[in-house]
Amino acid sequence: MGQKTTELEEQVRELKDKAVAELSDTATEEEVQQVKARYLGRKGSIVALFSQLGSFSSEDKPAAGKLINEAKQAVQTEVERQLERLAQEKKAADRLDVTLPGRRRRLGHKHPLSRVMDDAVAIFRRMGFITADGPDLETEYHNFDALNTPPDHPSRDLEDTFYLPDGRLLRTQTSPVQIRVMENQPPPVRTICPGRCFRRDTPDMTHSMNFHQIEGLYVDRHVTLSELKGTLSRFARELLGPEVNVRFRPHYFPFTEPSIEYDFSCIMCEGKGCSVCKYSGWLEISGAGMVDPAVFEAVGYDPEEWTGYAFGMGVERIAMMRYAINDIRLFYDNNVRFLEQF
Ligand code: PHE
Repeated sequence: MGQKTTELEEQVRELKDKAVAELSDTATEEEVQQVKARYLGRKGSIVALFSQLGSFSSEDKPAAGKLINEAKQAVQTEVERQLERLAQEKKAADRLDVTLPGRRRRLGHKHPLSRVMDDAVAIFRRMGFITADGPDLETEYHNFDALNTPPDHPSRDLEDTFYLPDGRLLRTQTSPVQIRVMENQPPPVRTICPGRCFRRDTPDMTHSMNFHQIEGLYVDRHVTLSELKGTLSRFARELLGPEVNVRFRPHYFPFTEPSIEYDFSCIMCEGKGCSVCKYSGWLEISGAGMVDPAVFEAVGYDPEEWTGYAFGMGVERIAMMRYAINDIRLFYDNNVRFLEQF
């Protein structure tokens, strides 16, 4: 073996050792590839040794070439070993460590308004009412005209209603859902529509710019006011307890005739009078009445043939009584300490 071959051997070993050392130091696949390129790439320092072969005697050339090839092979093997190591490490990091203590997942709470709405819908469903939904953004037609509410009616006033520039509005009540249901199906109808409503009220303990109603509508032949009273009484007792009473008071709504307002007896004091019911023994829930023939005409039902009752229900009012909450604004603050109590 000539002097040159010994020198080459030295050089090859040095490069190979350096490459192996660098490879064992890598932390990512990318780093491995970079080291590989430095030694084995087209311009890599081990590959570059091949260019020296020309200066070897034909006798030494095969041995010299073999030396370089062996080094190349050794580095290539090391590259593969390191890639395998990194893959294993990644797998281990992804694996679940079952010995770690568990992390407690905090359970959310159903909002008190959702509770009341879900419970109310469940009760009405048992009575045969089917849930319907309508848009929060309504047309004037559905929110007012079709509900026999003439353009000069005070509830249309800008003070009460949020209008959009395009003439639509944020619905002031869930009653437009009645219209949408009747437009889409022939009688008989038995539907319940929980939803959000909006009015330009100044927020205080009992007023909010958005609130929730549940609308009920029953249309059939020979429907009577006493059925309305029976349905609402039954509902009140299912929701709040067997001792609750319902009281009707005459009222006016454009879309019902006759119209009533109805109250539930206060469950806090059992009607004796307390701060929740402002010492009256009763809590006003909302309005109701027999569907006005003009509403049936608007949706194409024959008012000579069909009769019906409709009612609205203030969800916040019921929730305030049920959970003894004295400020409506608490429902919308989303204070976790408040919500956690339900
Ligand atoms: N929509 C009425 C209101 O918001 C309530 C109501 C519903 C009255 C259905 C009669 C019939 O006050």
